[in-house]
Amino acid sequence: GPGEWTLWGSWSRCSSSCGRGVSVRRRHCVRLPEEELCWGDSHEYRVCQLPDCPPGAIPFRDLQCSLYNGHPVLGTQKTYQWVPFHGAPNLCDLNCLAEGHAFYHSFGRVLDGTPCTPGTQGLCVAGRCLSAGCDGLLGSGTLEDRCGLCGGANDSCLFVQRVFRDAGAFAGYWNVTLIPEGARHIRVTQRSHNHLALVTRDGHYVLNGDGVLSLPGTYEAAGTRVVYTRSAGPEETLQATGPTSQELLLQVLLREPNPGVHFEFWLPRERYGSFQAQVHALGWPLRQPQPREVEPQPAETTVVPEAIPARVASLAPGEAGTVVLGFRGYQAAGKARLTHTSPLDPCGPCPDSRGRAHRLLHYCGSDFVFQARVLGRHRLAQETRYEVRVLLIYKNRSPLRSREYVWAPGHCPCPPLAPHREYLLATRRHVSPDGTQDRLLLPQAGYARLWSPAEDSRVRLAARRCPV
Ligand SMILES: *[C@@H]1O[C@H](CO)[C@@H](O)[C@H](O)[C@H]1NC(C)=O
Ligand SMILES: *[C@@H]1O[C@H](CO)[C@@H](O)[C@H](O)[C@H]1NC(C)=O
Repeated sequence: GPGEWTLWGSWSRCSSSCGRGVSVRRRHCVRLPEEELCWGDSHEYRVCQLPDCPPGAIPFRDLQCSLYNGHPVLGTQKTYQWVPFHGAPNLCDLNCLAEGHAFYHSFGRVLDGTPCTPGTQGLCVAGRCLSAGCDGLLGSGTLEDRCGLCGGANDSCLFVQRVFRDAGAFAGYWNVTLIPEGARHIRVTQRSHNHLALVTRDGHYVLNGDGVLSLPGTYEAAGTRVVYTRSAGPEETLQATGPTSQELLLQVLLREPNPGVHFEFWLPRERYGSFQAQVHALGWPLRQPQPREVEPQPAETTVVPEAIPARVASLAPGEAGTVVLGFRGYQAAGKARLTHTSPLDPCGPCPDSRGRAHRLLHYCGSDFVFQARVLGRHRLAQETRYEVRVLLIYKNRSPLRSREYVWAPGHCPCPPLAPHREYLLATRRHVSPDGTQDRLLLPQAGYARLWSPAEDSRVRLAARRCPV
């Protein structure tokens, strides 16, 4: 195996005495003769930023060239005055032009900390041009994530993405969404002759207000720069890096039917709940469709399917009037109207899928695990929608409301959920590719068990055994 590194030494003094420079620290590989070299770098370089150089200070590269002034070079006794030459291929070689002569000479590498080219961010280290990652280390390649965290994994914020398609009958301003304080990487696009508009908290229009079109360009709002483009396409975009220092209201000025306003931004996790509550209160649901605020139905009520399920759609031939469909309990009068339902479940039994590994797998692999009471069930042709009351949350990747819709694939999903009973559910978040649907999904053969105190303790046990 490889040897072992010593601890890092301390950072060296800055390579320059003003402005930007580099500082270096070292470590050493300690190894026995038969051991391999240590893995990783023996040197680390970081940018040091000293107060700006005074006006008229000689730039570092100029200084390095000028060291050869008046000294014989190139094997002759002739001497020259040297100034930097920036047209040579390697930016980190000390390429100097003989003043008044049509040639340059390369004196080897520039010193560490020399800017690669004037006015840019890169610095030369060991003859290579490196730029600093957000951690200040040269060449680390570390970037700020979408949440503004250096080297983060995008997991301290949530991505909000939706297409606003609602279009009213009247022309004028329509609310699209609130963009909360702290939002980053905001992007809004629409392709029509309608126009995007942005309003600050105090009701002041940043652009396209009062029915007057603004010029494309950069606008300052909520502590960030909003870049507005408009092309004859027709297409309009708004983009801002953020983070926003106050809430903004996005509107669309309708002049023709709205084909859709696509918007997206990243929001700190802790702001997501209040954002969702706010848009909910304003009637702009994020997760669609919105659960209705209805009371649970009494236990005797049976669920009436909206449409005849595809797998029983074959009517018995030759029977007029009342047609008995192909399974127990359902009778239809006429062709497609169900007039009577029985409490018998039209769906066959599901294959049994018990076991501890099963529970652990589902717990660890799910976005949401919670106890819920099923308030209602709505069977559609391709899927089933349960309305549930969330009672106890064991795990959630984004905030859950007290009432949610849980979707399951198919007309007869497995495992089945019966109305008015309480379950332990492990669901996933499913966002459709166009961003219009953001759903809780109970997958086929997913985890749904009647809730019991024993189930509760089994889940808590599973929670502790998830790999991190
Ligand atoms: C964060 O999200 C952006 C945009 O989706 C993506 O390009 C980037 O690779 C992500 N970063 C990480 C560390 O996952
Ligand atoms: C749009 O949202 C603002 C701010 O929440 C609200 O004051 C206004 O009444 C809304 N307008 C419409 C037409 O809903």
